[in-house]
Amino acid sequence: MALVTTTEMFKKAYDGGYAIGAFNVNNMEIVQGITEAAGELKSPVILQVSKGARAYANHTYLVKMVEAAVAENPDIPIALHLDHGDSFEICKSCIDGGFTSVMIDASSKSFEDNIALTKQVVEYAHAHGAVVEAELGTLAGVEDEVVVEAGQESYTRPEEVEEFVDRTGCDSLAIAIGTSHGAYKFTADQCTRNENGILVPPPLRFDVLQGCIDKLPGFPIVLHGSSSVPQDFVKMVNEFGGEMPDAIGIPEEQLREAAKLAVCKINIDSDIRLAMTGYIRKYLAENPSHFDPRQYLKPARQAVKDMVSHKILNVLGSNGKA
Ligand code: G3H
Ligand code: 13P
Ligand code: ZN
Repeated sequence: MALVTTTEMFKKAYDGGYAIGAFNVNNMEIVQGITEAAGELKSPVILQVSKGARAYANHTYLVKMVEAAVAENPDIPIALHLDHGDSFEICKSCIDGGFTSVMIDASSKSFEDNIALTKQVVEYAHAHGAVVEAELGTLAGVEDEVVVEAGQESYTRPEEVEEFVDRTGCDSLAIAIGTSHGAYKFTADQCTRNENGILVPPPLRFDVLQGCIDKLPGFPIVLHGSSSVPQDFVKMVNEFGGEMPDAIGIPEEQLREAAKLAVCKINIDSDIRLAMTGYIRKYLAENPSHFDPRQYLKPARQAVKDMVSHKILNVLGSNGKA
């Protein structure tokens, strides 16, 4: 199967009450870990590339690695998506360079400017066989050069989504319902403590999600910032020389509930980074004389695969849907 757009994936996911995982790729081990998991579980998957990933690994290397993964996994649909495109030019460059999907993230602009830029990208993308994800509302957290402090985010306004989708023609919409980018999603002040003293983040705003669904029946919704920051991995990082105090994510049960609704794409990146880093730290601490990168990247790649398998089975529900 060649690279596909997300159109068919999202239609089946919407009707089937599951979501497709969108995982960021930056190097070969990450591409392999994700696609081996998706291939074995017969799950469709979205591989996404940020502006930072293109700067790190180079567009051509990333596309060629994804093409290799497509050749190695001919039985599953794979989409190649630009994550958080911030200009028409980067979207055009990715579409011209083989991506099947792009995100134009003009969510920090005014409503009218967001519409104008999104529409320009949609016109180009649709004329070239690609699809477009847009965003309304802002998430907290760090993404590329943009930092939004916790408490400064703004939820999507359901009363705006219908006009936005009608006027832009976008194919999916990322909304803000309380998820956040990175591994430090909430400050201690925003959380409560359970009976064991563990920090519990504020629940996702399912009322905002439902409001958007009511205005856009049948339309695919996207959630960014959906890593759960598993505490076992935070402990592993901290045990082997790292320092990640107060790292906290979105509870997986809430994401599973969202996936049963209109949420068709769930973005997960930080959990993959955390799993890789935990295993690399552990390996090097336990084998101080080793210096062959293959030795520590092998368990790191396996950790990516295990993390993605876990997400497919327990959060997304996309296993067996290829
Ligand atoms: O939301 C952004 C993704 O986690 C990609 O992050 O800009 O560090 O590549 P990056
Ligand atoms: P996390 O930082 O929660 O993994 O979110 C990733 C993301 O939204 C990429 O666009
Ligand atoms: Zn994002």
